[in-house]
Amino acid sequence: MDILSVSAVQGFIRLCGDGWEQGWHERNGGNLTYRLTEEETEACRPAFRTDRPWTPMHVEDPGLAGAVFLVTGSGRYMRNVPLDPAFNIGIVEIDSRGGAWRILWGLERGGKPTSEFDSHYLCHVLRSQATGGACRVMYHAHPAYITALTFVLPLTASAFSRALWQSETECPMVFPHGVGVVEWMVPGGAELAEATRKAMAEYDAVVWAHHGLFVSGPDFDTAFGLMHTIEKAAQIRVLALAAGQGRLRQVIPDQGIRDVAEAYGGTINETLLAGGEGGKQHE
Ligand code: 13P
Ligand code: ZN
Repeated sequence: MDILSVSAVQGFIRLCGDGWEQGWHERNGGNLTYRLTEEETEACRPAFRTDRPWTPMHVEDPGLAGAVFLVTGSGRYMRNVPLDPAFNIGIVEIDSRGGAWRILWGLERGGKPTSEFDSHYLCHVLRSQATGGACRVMYHAHPAYITALTFVLPLTASAFSRALWQSETECPMVFPHGVGVVEWMVPGGAELAEATRKAMAEYDAVVWAHHGLFVSGPDFDTAFGLMHTIEKAAQIRVLALAAGQGRLRQVIPDQGIRDVAEAYGGTINETLLAGGEGGKQHE
């Protein structure tokens, strides 16, 4: 079977192209990883080579030792993924200690997994355990509006969650637990990986200050949809703040935020709703 006909590989490639079309992936910005199921791994196995060397990560966690991931390449462009998958993406295997990877397929001509692979790996371990194995996707992008908000809102989960919930009716339904926020850090480092993992213990999505957004999900549609919903709400917030010269006349009320979450089977994170400073920005 041709590896490009495996539906997980096709879904991965499609998300890369969709993210590019949204304008979230300038140059090599952003990255995507997907933990393959055993069946998908078997379907891809005829294309694997197992003679490549192991490369150590900056982190080690045995939680997903032996797992197999689809990954975007470091320095490779989301825009080019649909045109040349074997060059721009690859499949890697994690060693038996959870501290190194080796390339099984793709990343041709000297490629390696995204520089954020350590963040992705630690978050995969955490979310996979927290969801009984359901979580498979980690997606990082550079959407402009959520990043713009990191220059004007306090860098707290409550300020961001409440501001987003107040700004678009879908939000309390899509992410009732809220979003986490990590202060600015150098990209690709173990420090950012550890801070993201910590935030992911509570939230499906984490804002990286002055950088972008990191989301998780069980499948490509859910992860992409979460990225899209958060960015859309941030866009509405920024446009409203700009139109109102920083003043919002009204927002979705707290009780409305609660009611939307409950109407769709969720429970709003009351701690964030009570603590959010988003409401202080309107009269
Ligand atoms: P990579 O090209 O290594 O994936 O880096 C892009 C990026 O967005 C870093 O945060
Ligand atoms: Zn980035």
